Amino acid sequence: MSTLFEPGKLGDIDVKNRVFMAPLTRNRAHPDGTPHQLAVEYYTQRASAGLIISEGVQIVPMAKGYVNTPGIHNAKQIAAWKDITDAVHTKGGKIVLQLWHVGRISHTSLLPDGNAPLAPSAIQADAGTFTEEGPTNVSSPRELTVAEIEVIVTEYANAAQASIDAGVDGVEVHGANGYLLNQFISTNTNDRTDAYGGSPENRSKLLLDVVDAVSDRIGRGRVGVRLSPTGTFNDIHDAEAGATYSHLFAEIDKRDLAFLHVVEAFPGFEPSAEEQQLNQSLRKTFSGNYIANGGYDGASAAAAVENGAVAVSFGRMFISNPDLPERLRLGAELNVLDDTTLYGGSEKGYTDYPALSSAA
Ligand code: PHB
Repeated sequence: MSTLFEPGKLGDIDVKNRVFMAPLTRNRAHPDGTPHQLAVEYYTQRASAGLIISEGVQIVPMAKGYVNTPGIHNAKQIAAWKDITDAVHTKGGKIVLQLWHVGRISHTSLLPDGNAPLAPSAIQADAGTFTEEGPTNVSSPRELTVAEIEVIVTEYANAAQASIDAGVDGVEVHGANGYLLNQFISTNTNDRTDAYGGSPENRSKLLLDVVDAVSDRIGRGRVGVRLSPTGTFNDIHDAEAGATYSHLFAEIDKRDLAFLHVVEAFPGFEPSAEEQQLNQSLRKTFSGNYIANGGYDGASAAAAVENGAVAVSFGRMFISNPDLPERLRLGAELNVLDDTTLYGGSEKGYTDYPALSSAA
């Protein structure tokens, strides 16, 4: 039996505790996708996490879906991420970069040459994004060709290499929350009749091809995957979720990756009893390192780890509590989240939440 505050090992990544920081979009990067200098302080303030999973990082310019999100596809971005990973390591922390391609969840104004977003099928999402102009509906996407899909697999591997060049401890392939890989996986976003559509196996193919290409490039001990079997955020729905995710969990288990990170619940999209049941039964089939995410508090996280999860990741609680592991260990009071400063802006709501030692 493990506790939240024991060290552990996920593949090649040693962690000092099981309280992880979940990936969080904060929209504070420069318009060219270079992380802001403030991100060094933001992440190092949270270096007491067993593992920091970064905000989503676009693997190429066409992978971008929101204003002022960072990338990992040029030397300037890699250098800025290196400053972040060096500072986190100096504080004794560990950090993986979340490799992100948004697929259809984007807007032409965010993409090179005003191109249409890319997707498995030309089906527009009933979902929103943020551009320079503010909130807007996402644009109508264009269907990818097989040749283009194969290029995207290589783009993920290149981004994984760039992440290693930036000094990360590993990468997380974002297969959740309605973005590109999840669009291939789910029945309502994938009408393809080729090797990437139809059966659960075909819909899972792109995610698994990406995982294999990334593992070949940087080693499977540094690769994790994020999935959301019951997620509906970003207008996603899988009519065959049980079959699809049984297949995916088994395939990921076989690959002996560093971890599988599962979004069991998403703010504002709470799972039904039946969906909770699916999450529970899927989890029982998985023998690797399972990171649980979504709606946990200190007590339920401790129970999840006692019951075999390798760790629990916290999003919103880590925004407002930079020293979250210490607060959970002490049972200390938590800072309240200001949900008006989540997306965009600067220090306010980003680097100015106090740790216990500095709290008034
Ligand atoms: C968001 O920006 O709202 C967002 C991004 C990535 C996720 C979930 C939410 O996985």
